[in-house]
Amino acid sequence: MSRLGTETAFEVLARARALEASGREIIHLEIGEPDFDTPEFIRKAAQKAMDAGFTHYTPAAGLPEVRKVVADHLSKKIGVPFKPENIVITPGAKPIMFLSILALIETGNEVIYPNPGFPIYESAVNFVGGKAVPYPLEEQNGFRMEGERLKKLLTNKTRMLILNSPHNPTGTVLGKKELEGIFEVIKNREDIWVLSDEIYSRGLYSGTHISIASFPGMAERTIVLDGMSKAYAMTGWRLGFGAMPDALAQAVTKLAINDFSCTSGFGQKAIEAALSGPQDEVDKMVAEFKARRDLIVSGLKQIPRLSITEPQGAFYVFPSIKKFGKSSREMADYLLEGAGVACLSGTAFGRFGEGYIRFSYANSQENICRALEKIKTALEKV
Ligand SMILES: Cc1ncc(COP(=O)(O)O)c(C=O)c1O
Repeated sequence: MSRLGTETAFEVLARARALEASGREIIHLEIGEPDFDTPEFIRKAAQKAMDAGFTHYTPAAGLPEVRKVVADHLSKKIGVPFKPENIVITPGAKPIMFLSILALIETGNEVIYPNPGFPIYESAVNFVGGKAVPYPLEEQNGFRMEGERLKKLLTNKTRMLILNSPHNPTGTVLGKKELEGIFEVIKNREDIWVLSDEIYSRGLYSGTHISIASFPGMAERTIVLDGMSKAYAMTGWRLGFGAMPDALAQAVTKLAINDFSCTSGFGQKAIEAALSGPQDEVDKMVAEFKARRDLIVSGLKQIPRLSITEPQGAFYVFPSIKKFGKSSREMADYLLEGAGVACLSGTAFGRFGEGYIRFSYANSQENICRALEKIKTALEKV
């Protein structure tokens, strides 16, 4: 258990709620979930499915018709011809991460992952006895992973590379150029799997999403992680999926049987409805996130000594606080206690997050404006 990490977002949320219970007003910029309601037609589809009897166990990898809809959706989105056999549906997208690492990584295998990055990558790799090798993302490179620097981290023990685009916590997007650079470095290393975390791929503010799975030969050794949580405002439903080669899908399904058996049937029917229904509500949410991104970025840029890299996707911004003489943790605590603004320390995303804090802009424009005022006033006093 000592090797297992955690996600501090949930701890900060609990502290913020405790302050609220004592009468303080807190603006929540800590938690990474859309503040919108799940679109009505998706809720209705789940209700209908429940009434129609989708309340029993389903096949472990998912209902055949839902796996087909997911396969078609991902094929169209990524440009790779996935079949239903490539798809495993899970309660949230996180199990795809954990189960594929469990299936593929043995003691001593090395896994390269972005740091700062989603904390569960490092946690899961360490837990299964692998060696988590951080790729330090640097502000001067726009927090992007680059082929040349990646090459230096490869050893003959490397078995997996984890990519995350759009990226949590920096909002960076890996474009064609960076992905080509990464592909060049790993294309002849057929012993290396790629776990491509594309959970934020619907939340892109310019250009189109590109997956490493679309590069020649890569679909045979890539796990595409995606799901409903962020794109359709469905975090609490716990619905995710992965696309992977058949043999790995069978292994992950076996792990699923040992762990959670299957994902709820009515939840799966909600996936089917969401992916095959109208997408205009998703487009509206993305447009609103873009407006909030512009608002928070321009507001933060006006605060002296903060340094901002403009996020291209997801709903996070990761300013540098290096000029304030406080650690990330101290700064996050200070903003929560002193300004009533909840945010996360950069170190919640690994040690290379020191010197940064993460704001989630999954909150209304009105609250973002108020938070900006409070942050500005509090930082003037530092
Ligand atoms: C980068 C990244 N991957 C995966 C997930 C997990 O998504 P889910 O809530 O569907 O398990 C998150 C959630 O915050 C995330 O930020």
